[in-house]
Amino acid sequence: MSKTFYITTPIYYSSGKLHIGNSYTTVLCDTVNRYKALRGYDTRYLTGMDEHGQKVETVAKELNKTPQDLVDSLANNTKDLWKLLDIKYDDFIRTTEKRHKKVVKKIFEQLLEQDDIYLGEYEGYYCMSDEAFFTETQLGENNTCPDCGRETQLVKEESYFLRLSKYENRLLEFIEDNPDFITPETRKNEVVAFIKQGLHDLSVSRTSFDWGVKVVSNPAHVVYVWIDALSNYISALGYNTDDDSLYQKYWNGDEVVHVVGKDILRFHAIYWPIMLMALNVPLNFKLYAHGWYLMKDGKMSKSKGKVVYPDSLIKKYGLDPLRYYLLKELPYSGDGVFTPEDFIARINYDLANDFGNLLNRTINMINKYFDSKIFKPKKSYFEVDEGLRNMVSETIELYKTDMDKLKVSQAIQNIWKLISRTNKYIDETYPWVLAKDEAKQAELESVLYNLVESLRHIGILLSPILLESSKKLFKQLNIPKNLQTWNSLGFGKLEQVEVTDKPTPIFPRLDKKIEEEYIQNLLNSKEEVVEENYIDIEDFIKLDLVVGEILECEKHPNADKLLVSKINTKDRVRQIVSGVSKYYTPEELIGKKVIVVKNLKPVKLRGILSEGMVLAGKNKKTLEILETTTLSPGDKIS
Ligand code: MSP
Repeated sequence: MSKTFYITTPIYYSSGKLHIGNSYTTVLCDTVNRYKALRGYDTRYLTGMDEHGQKVETVAKELNKTPQDLVDSLANNTKDLWKLLDIKYDDFIRTTEKRHKKVVKKIFEQLLEQDDIYLGEYEGYYCMSDEAFFTETQLGENNTCPDCGRETQLVKEESYFLRLSKYENRLLEFIEDNPDFITPETRKNEVVAFIKQGLHDLSVSRTSFDWGVKVVSNPAHVVYVWIDALSNYISALGYNTDDDSLYQKYWNGDEVVHVVGKDILRFHAIYWPIMLMALNVPLNFKLYAHGWYLMKDGKMSKSKGKVVYPDSLIKKYGLDPLRYYLLKELPYSGDGVFTPEDFIARINYDLANDFGNLLNRTINMINKYFDSKIFKPKKSYFEVDEGLRNMVSETIELYKTDMDKLKVSQAIQNIWKLISRTNKYIDETYPWVLAKDEAKQAELESVLYNLVESLRHIGILLSPILLESSKKLFKQLNIPKNLQTWNSLGFGKLEQVEVTDKPTPIFPRLDKKIEEEYIQNLLNSKEEVVEENYIDIEDFIKLDLVVGEILECEKHPNADKLLVSKINTKDRVRQIVSGVSKYYTPEELIGKKVIVVKNLKPVKLRGILSEGMVLAGKNKKTLEILETTTLSPGDKIS
């Protein structure tokens, strides 16, 4: 029976469009999961959305939506993005789903009954944007959030607490006994140092907002995000339900990996294990915390327009360049920086030049010298053959070690060393010189065969990473399915090759200047948080907006708040009722040239016909009718 492998991403906050930073985790897990499947594991890949919390409630209100409608549309956007990135997940859990909430309720009640959770009072500074609480000493200047710099609010409320202190020693022991529980080592050290300072009990419920899982025994409280969110890793497997077969199979199986960003390591390395210890669930998982993608001048930030979205890059450059870049440029235990220059350089140098060109040259030579078909050589003709063969087997070994440890960037670098070695093999064997000599046909054929064998291996190793180009490689070289598998690794398994007679470069070379500028423009264009609130220009031009001059104005006979104006819009004089009497007297309005929505359906307001609307701006203190000085009645506004 195959070994099982269960991998999870964090569940993403429902707070807008995901950028390349969030996408990195998902692509990394996808690659590792595909690698494990290639190795024959029975794999399961979970991702999803963290949909509760005050922020969702507030944003929904601002957008005039229900929180559920908001999270539904964001979950759909996220799924669309994963489709674009060709993420092969098995399950997509959402914390608003019944299957999840049921489990969270049970977990909370059990911990309460056991006295691992107790009722107390919480006081702290809350940052709505980061959904995090801070103590006074952690805050920045003027009580701002130490992470994002935004204003925080002082919150004092009754709250349930999880007893972290009770499990402190057990957790430290566990980390010591399981040296590879948290990787990389530096991150583990941070966690251990943090625990050793002493753990404070964790506030795990709120009464200040509603949008969350209600505590069954005290519905004034909602379960605060981390207990809710962390439980997803087992609720999605049916833990503590009638059908817990997935839980039994994968959680209690062979390998479980949670991949998280460095910012949420503490939650996963401390709170989650303690929750599981308290629930008596085996601590079967390993934790890998990666660094962050930054921009040249610091953190990615939506509000400052310093953010890169994957969809625009994929639409322009294709999927593999982005997957390659993301996986290669973030080192195992540090941060990475996204720059347009590097992105284009990686496509031009690594993908088009080194890799694409190697494939293209090989196919062209086989077509030119052997009319597309060659056979496995009977013997080795060159000393350098062995060097190439050895490098292939070494690369396979290194790849296994790296990929098993989630060192994908390093695995890619080693594959590229093999690509360089293979390119060098061409320079060492001079196939174009061999081709001129009738007597050297067998040597020439063996060189080309070795190139194809090396490329076949490169294709297999790249298949979890570069999804489209590894397929193109196999197709252009006509590699049979059974020789694209992990088990077929090993130089010399190919008996014959018949390559395509119409090779096309798998990566185009890009114009550096034009493309760098294109990406820079993408970075500078701010995008709205919730895209579906955009309207098309067609919607806007439906409005017939013109300048109108107020000729007469008087109080509405039946309503204190309303004024009735006669407005000249050039085509005719129309009567418009506006709710502005709190801010303007009729005399103040006469003579003003204002903006009129001409094609608004006429209505009667408290018995008086209104044939349009006058535009005004408003804030909490005042209202101001928009005016023009130089335009004339009837002039179009657009
Ligand atoms: N909802 C919580 C996770 C709960 S898991 C039980 C959360 N969500 S998040 O949407 O803010 O972040 C999700 C992941 O994206 C985190 O692992 C975070 O580290 C990662 N990233 C966010 N920005 C990133 C970069 N700029 N670079 C790399 N990863 C980044 O936290």
